[in-house]
Amino acid sequence: MSATIPRACVIGHPVAHSRSPLLHGYWLRTLGIPGAYERAEVSAGDFPAFLRNLQAHGYVGANITVPHKGEAFRMVDRRDGAADAIGAVNTVWYAGDELVGGNTDAYGFIAHLDASLPGWDARAPRAVVLGAGGAARAVVHALLERGLAVAVVNRTIARAQELAIHFAMRPSDHGFDELPDVLSRADLLVNATSLGMAGKEPLRIDLGPLKAGAMVYDIVYVPLETALLRAAARLGHRTVDGLGMLLHQAVPGFSRWFGVTPTVTPELRALVEADIRATSGTA
Ligand code: ATR
Repeated sequence: MSATIPRACVIGHPVAHSRSPLLHGYWLRTLGIPGAYERAEVSAGDFPAFLRNLQAHGYVGANITVPHKGEAFRMVDRRDGAADAIGAVNTVWYAGDELVGGNTDAYGFIAHLDASLPGWDARAPRAVVLGAGGAARAVVHALLERGLAVAVVNRTIARAQELAIHFAMRPSDHGFDELPDVLSRADLLVNATSLGMAGKEPLRIDLGPLKAGAMVYDIVYVPLETALLRAAARLGHRTVDGLGMLLHQAVPGFSRWFGVTPTVTPELRALVEADIRATSGTA
């Protein structure tokens, strides 16, 4: 392999589970781009030096994953609007000598919704988001940008309040006791908690009060069809799964590093689905 081909990587600890090499490797291969995408297992202690020397190590950019997204946010020379709004950097690239930090989760969330349910926002003014962690921040940012009114529901109400304050009180904050009332007015319900993920507790909510015709989006993608999505489909709601968000959030990074905007294809989805089935033992 030539030393001059563009190389990118995913930096994390642990990073062995990351599916980013599978995604970017597929695009490099199918688009015929001479490039490489690698895993970089880097501890918290070594991360600052690694990121500072990214270009010297021969990389054109990187994805940043757990636990380095906050440190990357602080270290980059400048950030895009989404990273600033969300408070975390998951993708870095160079603009000249400057290291730029972006966050592609909000883009991935909305791009997958647009692709799955075209025109979904024509008559969907209100969303309810479950959760107030990092993932919820990205979802709330994306929905506010689209002009929706957002209600955040979280177990720890203080975190929901903190999130509302972070977004200048544009989302309203609620505890789970208010969920039935919030659901009755929602056009879109998003699960942005870790509940329902394989190995985690189930998400136990009653969809009975959810407005007829409301859409349900679960950002959890292991299992591929969560209990929430199954229950929502049974009640006749249109559903959107979490896997597409993972696929779409990878697009802007690839485009920055390799100069070609890739497409999320059914073949790519099938490849990642097969990997999830093989590694998680769940469907
Ligand atoms: P991430 O960055 O992936 O969003 P996180 O910051 O740990 O992860 O957030 C996880 C979310 O799942 C939070 O909203 C959390 O609720 P709390 O803020 O109350 O902790 C939610 N969550 C996790 N386990 C939960 C549980 N057993 N019941 C209710 N909510 C839960």
